[in-house]
Amino acid sequence: MALLDVENLSIAFGGVKAVQNVSFSVDPGIVYSVIGPNGAGKTTLFNLITGVYTPSEGEIRLDGHSIAGTAPHALALRGMARTFQNLQICMNMTALENVMVGAHLKLDRNLVKAMLRFPAMARRDARLRDEARELMRFVGLEAYWSLSANSMPYGALKRLEIARALAAKPRILFLDEPAAGLNSKETAEIDELVQKVAESGVTVVLVEHDMKMVMNISDRILVLDYGKKLAEGTAQEVRENPDVIAAYLGSAV
Ligand SMILES: Nc1ncnc2c1ncn2[C@@H]1O[C@H](COP(=O)(O)OP(=O)(O)O)[C@@H](O)[C@H]1O
Ligand SMILES: [Mg+2]
Repeated sequence: MALLDVENLSIAFGGVKAVQNVSFSVDPGIVYSVIGPNGAGKTTLFNLITGVYTPSEGEIRLDGHSIAGTAPHALALRGMARTFQNLQICMNMTALENVMVGAHLKLDRNLVKAMLRFPAMARRDARLRDEARELMRFVGLEAYWSLSANSMPYGALKRLEIARALAAKPRILFLDEPAAGLNSKETAEIDELVQKVAESGVTVVLVEHDMKMVMNISDRILVLDYGKKLAEGTAQEVRENPDVIAAYLGSAV
């Protein structure tokens, strides 16, 4: 059975049909990518699935159970975690504390609440600290653990956000443009990290513009255009799809 099932999902903002009748499913253990031009509806799709928005139509199932309209913290309890296209890191906390906040997401309604309520006691919680240190090692940031987030380079913050998402011990992780703004070396490192996450058994749903990375790591790819599903399939199927070539990829691949 698919881990995630999305069926005829739609939402509109005023006159803009941001996501229109989109269906797809994600099997456990794979890397599933969502691509499409700016404004195609990729982030909105993530916001619908992760409970930020309630769909106006359609169904979302996790493990066969309907989750459409379920609040983000309840979805965290059921094994969903995400990162954001625009970094959401608490800049006046240390790197390690930011990761520890991720473990608290299941208790708090949203990230801001989790950050505000992050108590001094939790900071001293030895088990949480150890787990957060281990995650920082996993994403290649062990050297930064005691530094304040505001002294970290952008590329490191992108990886810190992935560590924080992993702190909630998700089964399925949504990454919204993890390589955006990174140079080619940093992008290759994110590529490797995403593969490592997938190998650890976490299902990954990825939005990314870097086609080299997408083609390299995706088991399946969904192509969105103007909120609609344009194509879906393996990297090769998508690359060879005439609609995709015409509308989007062109000579890029
Ligand atoms: N909260 C919102 N209110 C109004 N319009 C929105 C909102 N979120 C997204 N949109 C619109 O929906 C469309 C899809 O946006 P988005 O999902 O961010 O695209 P992508 O992530 O693929 O670049 C865009 O036209 C965008 O302006
Ligand atoms: Mg987006």
